[in-house]
Amino acid sequence: MQDEIISLKEQILVAIAGAADADALEAVRIRHLSRNGSLPQLLEKMSTVPKEQRPIVGKAANEAKNAIAAAYESRKTELTAAAEAADFDPTLPGRYEAPGSLHPVLQVRDRAIEIFRRLGFALADGPDIENEVFNFDALNTPPDHPARNEQDTFYLKEDGLAPSLGLAAGSVGGRRLMRTQTSTVQIRTMLERQPPIRIIAPGRCYRRDEIDATHGMSFFQMEGLVVDEGVTLADLKGTLEYFFRELLGGDLKFRFRPHFFPFTEPSFEVDCARTGSQVKGKEWLEISGCGMVDPEVFRQVGYDEEKYTGYAFGFGIERIAIMRHGIPDLRFFTENDVRFLRQFSTRLDG
Ligand code: DAH
Repeated sequence: MQDEIISLKEQILVAIAGAADADALEAVRIRHLSRNGSLPQLLEKMSTVPKEQRPIVGKAANEAKNAIAAAYESRKTELTAAAEAADFDPTLPGRYEAPGSLHPVLQVRDRAIEIFRRLGFALADGPDIENEVFNFDALNTPPDHPARNEQDTFYLKEDGLAPSLGLAAGSVGGRRLMRTQTSTVQIRTMLERQPPIRIIAPGRCYRRDEIDATHGMSFFQMEGLVVDEGVTLADLKGTLEYFFRELLGGDLKFRFRPHFFPFTEPSFEVDCARTGSQVKGKEWLEISGCGMVDPEVFRQVGYDEEKYTGYAFGFGIERIAIMRHGIPDLRFFTENDVRFLRQFSTRLDG
């Protein structure tokens, strides 16, 4: 029986190798492998084999089945490829493969990076999963500040981590959370290096906002920080106005409106208007927060607040993209509708 199996196996393997096309291979399959084919017929006789021989015969049967299945599949693949190659008609028009393109928000981010690079800013980075200390304490936002409310922020579920005491108290412990702002990178950078500092830090932020036309639970910000001797508010104004004019183009007017941020003093919100243009019935649109670095922040990171001054700013990249392109709803950015995205394709054929 064992010999019979081996010899049939050889015979079938030869037949498979010799099948010249898909039809011939199918004929081999029907003759040898289908329900009434030679192989199943032979293997049916296994039941008549004496018990002590069964392991040997069984093994031969399995080997035969495996070898035949493998040979059959590989011959089939070969024949299909050959048939496709034979069908190839070089005169047919090519198939269109849509080229990918950067997401419109990332396009604005990259354009912003380019402009700041020309102004001598370096790129800095920090993690999305942050420590309470870097997100709040060190940015002069104490534990009782409403921004720390569990309602506003995503905390990671980690039992046993105590709320932080802050950097000044020597603590970098505390709960972990999804960063709510890229201002965290200010602290990380200043702890690592000494002035002069001139960085931008683009990245994702997270907040427990109700999702609507102008809010999402995740969005991009770009942070900026400049620290040196003799840095003034005039530097901040000049840099930001130049930047937004380069990015948004044309005849823009700016307004630095006094505001409050915990880590800058004085602080401003920057409003911007384009002559003769209104968005949603409003002339002025708020585009950025900014201010002079609060001396308390310098104390937190161990900088000499008598020697250094600095400015910082932060803005939402989606909002700038909306202004630049006149997009009515933030949700377009995350719905992945190609009809929307294609309009921002940098490839003309995309
Ligand atoms: N982090 C602020 C926010 O998310 C934005 C901001 C305001 C950043 C003022 C700054 C700044 O660096 O100076 O609302």
